[in-house]
Amino acid sequence: MNASARASQSEVMSSFKFTDADFRQIARILNAEAGIFLSDAKASFVYSRLTKRLRALGFESFQDYCSLIASDAGGDERRHMIAALTTNVTRFFREPHHFEHFGKNVVDRLAPSLRSGGRLRVWSSACSNGQEPYSIAMSIFSRLPEAESLNVRVLATDIDANMIAAANSGEYSEDAVSAVPDELRRKWFVQQAGGMSKVDQKLASIVTFRELNLIGAWPMKGKFDAIFCRNVAIYFEEKTQQQIWNRFVPMLNPGGVLYIGHSERISGPASDHLVADGVTTYRLSRGVSA
Ligand SMILES: C[S@@+](CC[C@H](N)C(=O)[O-])C[C@H]1O[C@@H](n2cnc3c(N)ncnc32)[C@H](O)[C@@H]1O
Repeated sequence: MNASARASQSEVMSSFKFTDADFRQIARILNAEAGIFLSDAKASFVYSRLTKRLRALGFESFQDYCSLIASDAGGDERRHMIAALTTNVTRFFREPHHFEHFGKNVVDRLAPSLRSGGRLRVWSSACSNGQEPYSIAMSIFSRLPEAESLNVRVLATDIDANMIAAANSGEYSEDAVSAVPDELRRKWFVQQAGGMSKVDQKLASIVTFRELNLIGAWPMKGKFDAIFCRNVAIYFEEKTQQQIWNRFVPMLNPGGVLYIGHSERISGPASDHLVADGVTTYRLSRGVSA
Protein backbone atom coordinates (compact mmCIF):
# COMPACT_ATOMS: atom_id res chain seq x y z
CA MET A 1 0.00 0.00 0.00
CA ASN A 2 1.42 3.43 -0.89
CA ALA A 3 1.80 6.31 1.59
CA SER A 4 -1.26 8.24 0.48
CA ALA A 5 -3.42 5.13 0.68
CA ARG A 6 -1.97 4.46 4.18
CA ALA A 7 -2.67 8.06 5.18
CA SER A 8 -6.26 7.99 3.98
CA GLN A 9 -6.73 4.61 5.64
CA SER A 10 -5.48 5.88 9.02
CA GLU A 11 -7.66 8.97 8.62
CA VAL A 12 -10.69 6.76 7.98
CA MET A 13 -9.70 4.51 10.89
CA SER A 14 -9.19 7.33 13.39
CA SER A 15 -12.70 7.71 14.88
CA PHE A 16 -12.46 4.63 17.13
CA LYS A 17 -9.32 3.16 18.70
CA PHE A 18 -8.62 -0.12 16.89
CA THR A 19 -5.54 -2.14 17.82
CA ASP A 20 -3.98 -5.27 16.30
CA ALA A 21 -5.19 -7.19 19.35
CA ASP A 22 -8.79 -6.00 18.68
CA PHE A 23 -8.51 -7.15 15.07
CA ARG A 24 -7.11 -10.55 16.07
CA GLN A 25 -9.88 -11.09 18.60
CA ILE A 26 -12.62 -10.22 16.09
CA ALA A 27 -10.98 -12.45 13.46
CA ARG A 28 -10.71 -15.32 15.96
CA ILE A 29 -14.38 -15.07 17.02
CA LEU A 30 -15.58 -14.78 13.40
CA ASN A 31 -13.53 -17.85 12.51
CA ALA A 32 -14.86 -19.86 15.46
CA GLU A 33 -18.49 -18.86 14.88
CA ALA A 34 -18.78 -18.79 11.09
CA GLY A 35 -15.64 -20.49 9.72
CA ILE A 36 -14.62 -17.32 7.92
CA PHE A 37 -10.89 -16.58 7.79
CA LEU A 38 -9.62 -12.98 7.74
CA SER A 39 -6.02 -12.26 6.81
CA ASP A 40 -4.25 -9.29 8.44
CA ALA A 41 -4.86 -7.33 5.23
CA LYS A 42 -8.57 -7.20 6.18
CA ALA A 43 -8.08 -4.88 9.18
CA SER A 44 -9.44 -1.77 7.45
CA PHE A 45 -12.36 -3.81 6.06
CA VAL A 46 -13.24 -4.94 9.61
CA TYR A 47 -12.95 -1.39 10.91
CA SER A 48 -15.20 0.10 8.25
CA ARG A 49 -17.83 -2.66 8.45
CA LEU A 50 -18.07 -2.53 12.27
CA THR A 51 -18.01 1.20 13.06
CA LYS A 52 -21.77 1.31 12.49
CA ARG A 53 -22.18 -1.34 15.20
CA LEU A 54 -19.97 0.63 17.62
CA ARG A 55 -22.06 3.75 16.99
CA ALA A 56 -25.32 1.83 17.44
CA LEU A 57 -24.05 0.49 20.78
CA GLY A 58 -22.60 3.83 21.92
CA PHE A 59 -19.08 2.39 22.28
CA GLU A 60 -15.99 4.57 21.99
CA SER A 61 -13.43 1.91 21.26
CA PHE A 62 -13.08 -1.52 19.71
CA GLN A 63 -11.85 -2.76 23.07
CA ASP A 64 -15.36 -2.28 24.50
CA TYR A 65 -16.81 -3.98 21.46
CA CYS A 66 -14.43 -6.94 21.82
CA SER A 67 -15.35 -7.33 25.49
CA LEU A 68 -19.01 -7.59 24.52
CA ILE A 69 -18.59 -10.11 21.68
CA ALA A 70 -16.27 -12.24 23.82
CA SER A 71 -18.80 -12.39 26.68
CA ASP A 72 -21.65 -14.85 27.30
CA ALA A 73 -24.07 -11.94 26.89
CA GLY A 74 -22.67 -11.13 23.47
CA GLY A 75 -24.56 -13.74 21.41
CA ASP A 76 -26.86 -11.24 19.69
CA GLU A 77 -23.98 -8.93 18.89
CA ARG A 78 -21.89 -11.81 17.55
CA ARG A 79 -24.73 -12.42 15.07
CA HIS A 80 -24.73 -8.72 14.10
CA MET A 81 -20.96 -8.91 13.70
CA ILE A 82 -21.14 -11.96 11.43
CA ALA A 83 -23.82 -10.27 9.33
CA ALA A 84 -21.67 -7.13 9.06
CA LEU A 85 -18.54 -9.08 8.05
CA THR A 86 -20.04 -11.49 5.51
CA THR A 87 -20.20 -10.76 1.81
CA ASN A 88 -23.69 -11.26 0.42
CA VAL A 89 -23.02 -10.54 -3.24
CA THR A 90 -25.25 -12.69 -5.41
CA ARG A 91 -27.12 -12.62 -8.71
CA PHE A 92 -30.05 -14.35 -10.36
CA PHE A 93 -28.73 -17.19 -12.57
CA ARG A 94 -25.15 -16.50 -11.48
CA GLU A 95 -22.87 -19.00 -13.27
CA PRO A 96 -25.62 -19.98 -15.74
CA HIS A 97 -23.95 -23.26 -16.72
CA HIS A 98 -24.96 -24.66 -13.31
CA PHE A 99 -28.65 -24.03 -14.02
CA GLU A 100 -28.36 -25.63 -17.48
CA HIS A 101 -26.66 -28.68 -15.95
CA PHE A 102 -29.21 -28.82 -13.13
CA GLY A 103 -32.14 -28.68 -15.57
CA LYS A 104 -30.81 -31.42 -17.83
CA ASN A 105 -29.06 -33.71 -15.36
CA VAL A 106 -31.19 -33.40 -12.24
CA VAL A 107 -34.70 -32.18 -13.12
CA ASP A 108 -35.08 -34.00 -16.47
CA ARG A 109 -33.50 -37.16 -15.05
CA LEU A 110 -35.92 -37.26 -12.10
CA ALA A 111 -39.03 -36.01 -13.95
CA PRO A 112 -40.46 -39.49 -14.77
CA SER A 113 -40.13 -40.70 -11.17
CA LEU A 114 -41.48 -37.39 -9.83
CA ARG A 115 -44.57 -37.77 -11.99
CA SER A 116 -45.16 -41.16 -10.43
CA GLY A 117 -44.79 -40.03 -6.82
CA GLY A 118 -41.01 -39.62 -6.42
CA ARG A 119 -39.33 -36.59 -4.84
CA LEU A 120 -36.88 -33.86 -5.78
CA ARG A 121 -34.91 -32.16 -3.02
CA VAL A 122 -32.47 -29.30 -3.57
CA TRP A 123 -30.40 -27.38 -1.01
CA SER A 124 -29.10 -23.87 -1.62
CA SER A 125 -26.72 -23.80 1.33
CA ALA A 126 -25.51 -20.17 1.35
CA CYS A 127 -28.49 -18.57 -0.31
CA SER A 128 -27.85 -14.90 0.54
CA ASN A 129 -31.03 -12.89 -0.26
CA GLY A 130 -32.65 -15.69 -2.23
CA GLN A 131 -31.64 -15.01 -5.82
CA GLU A 132 -29.92 -18.42 -6.07
CA PRO A 133 -32.84 -20.56 -4.76
CA TYR A 134 -35.41 -18.60 -6.78
CA SER A 135 -33.24 -19.22 -9.87
CA ILE A 136 -33.28 -22.93 -8.97
CA ALA A 137 -37.08 -22.79 -8.60
CA MET A 138 -37.45 -21.07 -12.02
CA SER A 139 -35.24 -23.77 -13.56
CA ILE A 140 -37.46 -26.45 -12.04
CA PHE A 141 -40.72 -24.86 -13.23
CA SER A 142 -39.28 -24.37 -16.75
CA ARG A 143 -39.00 -28.15 -17.07
CA LEU A 144 -41.77 -29.24 -14.70
CA PRO A 145 -44.62 -26.73 -15.03
CA GLU A 146 -46.70 -28.71 -12.51
CA ALA A 147 -43.88 -28.66 -9.89
CA GLU A 148 -46.01 -27.16 -7.13
CA SER A 149 -48.31 -30.18 -7.22
CA LEU A 150 -45.38 -32.66 -7.13
CA ASN A 151 -43.07 -33.62 -4.24
CA VAL A 152 -40.54 -30.88 -5.00
CA ARG A 153 -38.81 -28.72 -2.37
CA VAL A 154 -35.91 -26.29 -2.40
CA LEU A 155 -34.36 -25.70 1.02
CA ALA A 156 -32.50 -22.38 1.13
CA THR A 157 -30.28 -21.57 4.11
CA ASP A 158 -27.85 -18.88 5.17
CA ILE A 159 -26.11 -17.86 8.40
CA ASP A 160 -27.36 -14.28 8.10
CA ALA A 161 -30.87 -13.66 9.47
CA ASN A 162 -31.11 -10.40 7.49
CA MET A 163 -30.57 -12.32 4.26
CA ILE A 164 -33.21 -14.89 5.19
CA ALA A 165 -35.69 -12.10 5.95
CA ALA A 166 -34.92 -10.41 2.61
CA ALA A 167 -35.25 -13.75 0.79
CA ASN A 168 -38.59 -14.47 2.46
CA SER A 169 -39.92 -11.05 1.39
CA GLY A 170 -39.13 -12.02 -2.22
CA GLU A 171 -38.72 -8.36 -3.21
CA TYR A 172 -35.93 -7.29 -5.54
CA SER A 173 -34.75 -4.10 -7.19
CA GLU A 174 -35.14 -3.54 -10.91
CA ASP A 175 -31.38 -3.85 -11.22
CA ALA A 176 -31.33 -7.29 -9.54
CA VAL A 177 -34.27 -8.57 -11.61
CA SER A 178 -32.65 -7.37 -14.86
CA ALA A 179 -30.38 -10.48 -14.68
CA VAL A 180 -33.44 -12.71 -15.15
CA PRO A 181 -34.14 -13.61 -18.81
CA ASP A 182 -37.13 -11.55 -20.14
CA GLU A 183 -39.53 -14.45 -20.51
CA LEU A 184 -38.91 -15.67 -16.96
CA ARG A 185 -39.08 -12.16 -15.56
CA ARG A 186 -42.51 -11.62 -17.13
CA LYS A 187 -43.69 -14.98 -15.84
CA TRP A 188 -42.37 -14.92 -12.29
CA PHE A 189 -42.11 -11.30 -11.11
CA VAL A 190 -44.85 -8.85 -10.26
CA GLN A 191 -43.97 -5.16 -10.33
CA GLN A 192 -44.57 -3.34 -7.07
CA ALA A 193 -44.86 0.34 -6.28
CA GLY A 194 -41.45 1.99 -5.84
CA GLY A 195 -39.72 0.08 -8.62
CA MET A 196 -39.41 -3.21 -6.73
CA SER A 197 -40.47 -6.57 -8.15
CA LYS A 198 -41.86 -9.42 -6.07
CA VAL A 199 -41.55 -13.10 -6.85
CA ASP A 200 -44.77 -14.86 -7.75
CA GLN A 201 -46.42 -16.88 -4.96
CA LYS A 202 -46.35 -20.11 -7.00
CA LEU A 203 -42.57 -19.84 -7.45
CA ALA A 204 -42.09 -19.13 -3.75
CA SER A 205 -44.34 -22.04 -2.76
CA ILE A 206 -41.64 -24.66 -3.43
CA VAL A 207 -38.87 -22.77 -1.55
CA THR A 208 -38.32 -22.81 2.23
CA PHE A 209 -35.86 -20.42 3.88
CA ARG A 210 -34.08 -21.16 7.17
CA GLU A 211 -31.12 -19.81 9.10
CA LEU A 212 -28.28 -22.36 9.13
CA ASN A 213 -24.57 -22.14 9.85
CA LEU A 214 -22.57 -24.39 7.53
CA ILE A 215 -20.02 -25.06 10.27
CA GLY A 216 -22.75 -25.93 12.80
CA ALA A 217 -25.27 -28.77 13.03
CA TRP A 218 -27.37 -29.68 9.99
CA PRO A 219 -30.75 -30.82 11.32
CA MET A 220 -32.10 -31.97 7.93
CA LYS A 221 -33.04 -35.64 7.84
CA GLY A 222 -33.49 -36.41 4.14
CA LYS A 223 -30.93 -36.40 1.36
CA PHE A 224 -30.68 -34.04 -1.60
CA ASP A 225 -30.58 -34.55 -5.36
CA ALA A 226 -28.59 -31.33 -5.76
CA ILE A 227 -26.68 -29.09 -3.38
CA PHE A 228 -25.60 -25.59 -4.34
CA CYS A 229 -22.73 -24.36 -2.14
CA ARG A 230 -21.36 -21.50 -4.16
CA ASN A 231 -19.10 -18.60 -3.30
CA VAL A 232 -19.01 -19.19 0.43
CA ALA A 233 -16.28 -21.82 0.99
CA ILE A 234 -13.87 -19.35 -0.57
CA TYR A 235 -14.03 -17.45 2.75
CA PHE A 236 -13.08 -20.56 4.75
CA GLU A 237 -9.65 -22.09 5.38
CA GLU A 238 -8.76 -25.22 3.39
CA LYS A 239 -9.36 -27.48 6.43
CA THR A 240 -12.89 -26.10 6.94
CA GLN A 241 -13.65 -26.34 3.20
CA GLN A 242 -12.63 -30.01 3.20
CA GLN A 243 -14.84 -30.73 6.21
CA ILE A 244 -17.84 -29.11 4.50
CA TRP A 245 -17.27 -30.96 1.19
CA ASN A 246 -17.00 -34.19 3.14
CA ARG A 247 -20.21 -33.52 5.07
CA PHE A 248 -22.07 -33.06 1.77
CA VAL A 249 -21.21 -36.59 0.59
CA PRO A 250 -23.72 -38.46 2.84
CA MET A 251 -26.30 -35.71 2.20
CA LEU A 252 -26.50 -36.53 -1.52
CA ASN A 253 -28.79 -39.12 -3.07
CA PRO A 254 -27.19 -41.56 -5.54
CA GLY A 255 -26.35 -39.56 -8.68
CA GLY A 256 -26.78 -36.32 -6.71
CA VAL A 257 -24.89 -33.23 -7.84
CA LEU A 258 -22.88 -30.60 -5.94
CA TYR A 259 -22.41 -27.15 -7.49
CA ILE A 260 -19.62 -24.95 -6.08
CA GLY A 261 -18.35 -21.43 -6.84
CA HIS A 262 -16.19 -20.56 -9.83
CA SER A 263 -13.03 -20.14 -7.76
CA GLU A 264 -13.61 -23.13 -5.47
CA ARG A 265 -12.35 -26.71 -5.84
CA ILE A 266 -13.24 -29.98 -4.08
CA SER A 267 -10.32 -31.33 -2.07
CA GLY A 268 -9.71 -33.78 0.76
CA PRO A 269 -11.60 -37.04 1.45
CA ALA A 270 -14.71 -35.93 -0.48
CA SER A 271 -12.69 -36.22 -3.71
CA ASP A 272 -12.98 -40.01 -3.37
CA HIS A 273 -16.76 -39.76 -3.74
CA LEU A 274 -17.37 -36.74 -5.97
CA VAL A 275 -16.39 -36.84 -9.63
CA ALA A 276 -16.20 -33.81 -11.90
CA ASP A 277 -19.28 -33.58 -14.13
CA GLY A 278 -18.77 -30.13 -15.66
CA VAL A 279 -17.34 -26.81 -14.61
CA THR A 280 -17.30 -26.64 -10.77
CA THR A 281 -19.94 -29.39 -10.88
CA TYR A 282 -19.51 -32.72 -9.06
CA ARG A 283 -21.59 -35.87 -9.10
CA LEU A 284 -21.73 -38.44 -6.32
CA SER A 285 -19.99 -41.51 -7.67
CA ARG A 286 -19.89 -43.72 -4.63
CA GLY A 287 -22.16 -42.89 -1.71
CA VAL A 288 -21.51 -43.47 1.96
CA SER A 289 -24.13 -44.22 4.57
CA ALA A 290 -25.30 -41.18 6.56
C1 LIG B 1 -21.11 -14.32 -1.60
S1 LIG B 1 -22.63 -14.92 -0.96
C2 LIG B 1 -22.98 -16.23 -2.10
C3 LIG B 1 -24.45 -16.31 -2.42
C4 LIG B 1 -24.82 -17.36 -3.48
N1 LIG B 1 -24.47 -18.70 -3.06
C5 LIG B 1 -24.16 -17.05 -4.79
O1 LIG B 1 -23.21 -17.72 -5.19
O2 LIG B 1 -24.59 -16.08 -5.44
C6 LIG B 1 -22.03 -15.81 0.49
C7 LIG B 1 -23.14 -16.11 1.50
O3 LIG B 1 -22.61 -17.05 2.43
C8 LIG B 1 -23.16 -16.76 3.71
N2 LIG B 1 -22.31 -17.39 4.73
C9 LIG B 1 -21.10 -16.99 5.18
N3 LIG B 1 -20.65 -17.83 6.14
C10 LIG B 1 -21.60 -18.79 6.28
C11 LIG B 1 -21.72 -19.93 7.11
N4 LIG B 1 -20.77 -20.26 8.00
N5 LIG B 1 -22.84 -20.68 7.01
C12 LIG B 1 -23.82 -20.35 6.12
N6 LIG B 1 -23.77 -19.27 5.31
C13 LIG B 1 -22.67 -18.51 5.39
C14 LIG B 1 -23.21 -15.25 3.76
O4 LIG B 1 -24.13 -14.78 4.71
C15 LIG B 1 -23.58 -14.91 2.30
O5 LIG B 1 -24.97 -14.69 2.17
